[in-house]
Amino acid sequence: MQLKIKLPDKKAQSYPIVIEAGISEQLIQYLPKNTSSLVIITDSTVKKHYAQALKNALEKTIYSVFLLSFKAGEASKNIQTKIKLEEAMLVKCCGRDTVILALGGGVVGDLAGFIAATYMRGISYIQIPTTLLAMVDSSVGGKTAIDTPQGKNLIGAFWQPRAVLADLNLLKTLSKQHIVNGLVEALKIFLTCSSKDVQYFKKNVQLALTKNEAILHQLVYRAVKIKAQVVEQDEHEINLRKILNWGHTIGHAIEHLSHYKMLHGYAVALGILVEAKISLLMGYLSATDYLFVENSLKDLGIRPSDLQKYNPNEIIKHTYKDKKAKAGQVYYVLLSGVGQVHQIKGKVTHPVSDRIVKEAFSLF
Ligand SMILES: NC(=O)c1ccc[n+]([C@@H]2O[C@H](COP(=O)([O-])OP(=O)(O)OC[C@H]3O[C@@H](n4cnc5c(N)ncnc54)[C@H](O)[C@@H]3O)[C@@H](O)[C@H]2O)c1
Repeated sequence: MQLKIKLPDKKAQSYPIVIEAGISEQLIQYLPKNTSSLVIITDSTVKKHYAQALKNALEKTIYSVFLLSFKAGEASKNIQTKIKLEEAMLVKCCGRDTVILALGGGVVGDLAGFIAATYMRGISYIQIPTTLLAMVDSSVGGKTAIDTPQGKNLIGAFWQPRAVLADLNLLKTLSKQHIVNGLVEALKIFLTCSSKDVQYFKKNVQLALTKNEAILHQLVYRAVKIKAQVVEQDEHEINLRKILNWGHTIGHAIEHLSHYKMLHGYAVALGILVEAKISLLMGYLSATDYLFVENSLKDLGIRPSDLQKYNPNEIIKHTYKDKKAKAGQVYYVLLSGVGQVHQIKGKVTHPVSDRIVKEAFSLF
């Protein structure tokens, strides 16, 4: 005997991504109809800037509103923080019709999203990104996770939000360092997927660094448009979605070895440099295109000489914990041109020997 379980098609999981100054003030319209209560999950910094004000505003509506926060920083993206937040939600009798509002950067988004994925076997959440990195990248696509002592994002789930509300007004308090952090992830998306958008980025990067709103709006829109197209084709990262992991095999290792003192985007920038150099050494990327990548990062103040601080052997050892590694072999996304990744029979990741990685490091 055979039975079939019919799951709703992908369209049922579609959701709006709204990029607009002031949009977070209109979030009520994006809540599911049966919502009973709201839990704002945020970190200690965003709490001071925005979360308390959001709570006060939402308390004027028909919903019960709770505000939960944790200490800002990557070091909090772990199982202990997750447990504390979940227990607080249980104490407050949050149920299946509670909606989580993930108000913060990528750390809040990944953690609150993972709680939404597992709380009572899955509840709704809305991403309200407050960093540029979260707006251009992490709030979209439903990847949620926590870090473990073994490495980054190793425990998590794919769990799509009900909506992503990118309110550009929330970037006003963001430091320049965190603007750079986000611009690196936007550049990563453009360099792997769209030469046209790379040109736009190059032309406008200095204005972006001054937080010019029109330029940031365009960059978020362009990056998210590409990311959404990639996620639509490969939600669970079987193949194509891995292109967005470019720079992350080395980047995650550097981030881990810096004990998370180096910001994610800066570590990814160094990862991009090494992985572009590997692409050059393997003959996929021209010297001109390699230089273009290096100069684009220099425009953001990234110094290739920073790589000299890291021991290549330690980095290589850590790359074996990467999610793309299998059967004792590390796989990399490699570039074949500006706006293009190297593909063999449609596959976007490729085995690279430790010798080549070491050689790439020796050239910095
Ligand atoms: N899920 C994904 O697809 C995905 C993609 C890329 C990165 N990530 C993850 O994102 C995380 C990095 O995100 P991040 O760089 O946003 O880090 P973050 O969330 O730690 O935010 C950076 C800092 O900025 C502060 N902050 C946030 N918003 C602010 C604002 N508006 N004004 C002033 N300060 C503000 C935070 O309190 C924090 O101290 C990493 O954990 C990374 O693994 C996830």
